[in-house]
Amino acid sequence: MPRVIRTAVFPVAGRGTRFLPATKASPKEMLPVVDKPLIQYAVEEALAAGAENLVFITGSSKRAIEDHFDSDLELEAALAQQGKQELLETLRGILPRQANCIYIRQAAPLGLGHAVLCARPVVGNEPFFVHLADDLIDAAVPCLAQMAAVHARHGGSVLGVQTVLAAETEKYGIVAADPESERVSVVSRIVEKPKPGQAPSTLAVVGRYILSAGIFSKLEKLGRGAGGEIQLTDGIAALLGDEPVRAYAFEGKRYDCGSKLGYLEATVEYALKHPELGADFARYLTERLARGL
Ligand code: G1P
Repeated sequence: MPRVIRTAVFPVAGRGTRFLPATKASPKEMLPVVDKPLIQYAVEEALAAGAENLVFITGSSKRAIEDHFDSDLELEAALAQQGKQELLETLRGILPRQANCIYIRQAAPLGLGHAVLCARPVVGNEPFFVHLADDLIDAAVPCLAQMAAVHARHGGSVLGVQTVLAAETEKYGIVAADPESERVSVVSRIVEKPKPGQAPSTLAVVGRYILSAGIFSKLEKLGRGAGGEIQLTDGIAALLGDEPVRAYAFEGKRYDCGSKLGYLEATVEYALKHPELGADFARYLTERLARGL
């Protein structure tokens, strides 16, 4: 069973309607948190976990993502000419040389499960990461790297989970799981967006997955689930009968950047930590709060 994970899949075809009009012509994954777009945080996390093949499942209005990860020779030449060496290095450092970017178009918005299925020809028969860029996780050890360590121990599929409020189960895939070791439990059930009161627990999947290639044959057979979409959660539910699926309660703070409030929280926290900006921003915030809200 292969334990090294080489491929990361980024489903980025969603329209980001919650951020309209900002996302009318520009992908939600290109929204910046301070000075980096969400998709770059996502890619950096996958690279830190060992991925080399980056598979973006794109849709309409997503060209900016491809442009972001291409080199821009004209811009680089201009920066070099102006002696802006530091910026030049920043641009050149967006992707390491060994990384391959692969773009697959999801022809119709049929859901997250369908988006993942679109990656099948590239992923082949190996386990792979799925990363939802909306969920930004700030962690000392990047979340996917933590999960890769669990996968290296056990194999199988691993879902990144955190406990959410009982009133919020409707926003997530929710698992029932039996504790196995610290932070790791074995999933016995998974349900997409159950109503509070019908949820098997408050343990929610938050945008990080290591999936075995067995998921593809399950997704292929699925009909439409919650919200009329082909749901990744339903594919995982089908996989449970055949293979072990574990839930891993990662260490770190997650920001729901698919919501305006979560996005603003992330912006404030990342700005406070920013090496050049942090001190000035903290001074501003302190003064601003002293004036009352
Ligand atoms: C998706 C998944 C859901 C998961 C969530 C994490 O939902 O379908 O199972 O819990 O991401 O953010 P979405 O947020 O796309 O509605």
